[in-house]
Amino acid sequence: MNDQQVAVPEKLPAEILRVLFSEEAISSRVSELAGQISADYEAIGAGSVLLIGVLKGAFIFLADLARRLTVPHRVDFIALSSYGQMGAVSGAVRLLMDLREPVAGRHVIIVEDIVDSGQTLAYLDRMIGGREPASLRRCTFLRKHTDGQATVPIEYVGFDIPDVWVVGYGLDYAERYRTLPYIAELRPDVYREG
Ligand code: IMP
Ligand code: MG
Repeated sequence: MNDQQVAVPEKLPAEILRVLFSEEAISSRVSELAGQISADYEAIGAGSVLLIGVLKGAFIFLADLARRLTVPHRVDFIALSSYGQMGAVSGAVRLLMDLREPVAGRHVIIVEDIVDSGQTLAYLDRMIGGREPASLRRCTFLRKHTDGQATVPIEYVGFDIPDVWVVGYGLDYAERYRTLPYIAELRPDVYREG
């Protein structure tokens, strides 16, 4: 069909309020992150890096980031689910699919789509950290400013955003809008209950 229909902001779906980061802004930030990560791991002579993408949200970010790294790397995925709906903080995280790659002795980077309460990252950090990696760092495309966020260090952050529900570039609202090429804010009346 027409490529323009996906990229042009005037064609925003009705539930979307505004675009926070355009396709171009995302692309240049991902390149910067990839450059920073490559330089850091070249400096420590890490050899190969193991990127662990958190499904489903991180699949697009991970694909873009990995293809711009200049250090040798491998890719694996893990799938988690939080109990509770949407932005509600339940604190309970469930493992849906484990890694295929062994972690022991590897230089690991956890790659997240977004850190909200931080519970998912805290859970992963404990789980993967417990498998004796040579090193462990965390990378998230977005970090939301919320009260009471779990205090897990995050070495690589794409963008800091306010406490709103965002979609696109891998992020969904009830499984919709994941493949929008930009990051957009959902209208508050869509995700906030009465
Ligand atoms: P946390 O455990 O509260 O940090 O939440 C992490 C997960 O919640 C992310 O991996 C997302 O799947 C989801 N999430 C949190 N905020 C948003 C958002 O604004 N849009 C889409 N997904 C979100
Ligand atoms: Mg997610």
